[in-house]
Amino acid sequence: MATTKGTVTKMPWEAKIHRLSPQPSEQEEIHSLITDLLGGSDQKEVLSLLELAAFHAQDLPRSIREAFHAFRRHQAYDALYIDLGSLLEGKVGATPSRHRPPDEIEYATYYDVAHILFASLLGDPFGWSTIQNGYIINDVMPIPEHRDLVASSGFGSRFGLHTEDAFHPLAGDYLGLLCLRNPDGAETTLAGLGADDLPNAIFSILFESRFIVGNNVAQKVGRIGSPSPILFGNRNFPYIRVNLNATEAVQGDDLAAQALKELAAALERNAVKVCFRPGEFWYIDNLGVAHGRDVYTPRFDGSDRWLRRLYISSAFRFSLGLRTTISGHVLDPLKKIWKAYI
Ligand SMILES: [Fe+2]
Repeated sequence: MATTKGTVTKMPWEAKIHRLSPQPSEQEEIHSLITDLLGGSDQKEVLSLLELAAFHAQDLPRSIREAFHAFRRHQAYDALYIDLGSLLEGKVGATPSRHRPPDEIEYATYYDVAHILFASLLGDPFGWSTIQNGYIINDVMPIPEHRDLVASSGFGSRFGLHTEDAFHPLAGDYLGLLCLRNPDGAETTLAGLGADDLPNAIFSILFESRFIVGNNVAQKVGRIGSPSPILFGNRNFPYIRVNLNATEAVQGDDLAAQALKELAAALERNAVKVCFRPGEFWYIDNLGVAHGRDVYTPRFDGSDRWLRRLYISSAFRFSLGLRTTISGHVLDPLKKIWKAYI
């Protein structure tokens, strides 16, 4: 039930998921935009596309730009997705069984162009040097020998709730997931936290630097050592940075350990299941919503679940210290962050 404190109405968390279903004329506009960008080819180098994307995204249909504006500026949704199966027709190859090797030129295919254009309405897509060889567009699919890995390439164990790259203060504030294939309807879990979902004393502890928020195994960054808060931003509309697979209280801090336990229980209580369908372009508020994945059974015949993942930052300038060039798009999470601006 909602409660009122001062002029602020506080609510328990409920998932706000917005579906956009472009009209046929709008779909045509999007097809034309992609075709123009590809310039007669069936793919485009990702780095050159990133130079153009923010500019060309302003030619996307107004209804899409308005929804993304509400998402970004007013946090109107926890997640937003565009239902655009027509962009995939006849264009999706077999699900890969391996991540790409390093040092290849990265290309965006037809549907990737749309993914990057939509993402550019929220911020800058980027890669991490420590995951999937620094590529901007990552593949999420099962890998046979990763069966019990708590990672996007695992499938035999539940992937617990986490915000993407919670271990790092400059993690993307949005997460893009384009579903190319999900034959058995493997479910994704989404969960957030409302200001009424925990007692005040617990909230206060979660806002303090009393936790070690660790990384998922796919991020090759070693052990995270410095304490940080789990909640930050505004007490009435908290942002969250958590990884229930790898977060612990600072050693000996029993109150923080209890707060973490209560947070985990609240997130599990709030969790909702969604099923990504082919042709759905999902964008998740990575400061407001944790996500996870249930167990599923792959076939390993080229028809398995396959998502194309984008990390997106609406404040990319702040990560310059993690890059080698001003215009670069790859972050090295192991570089020192200079915090003088805070
Ligand atoms: Fe994730």
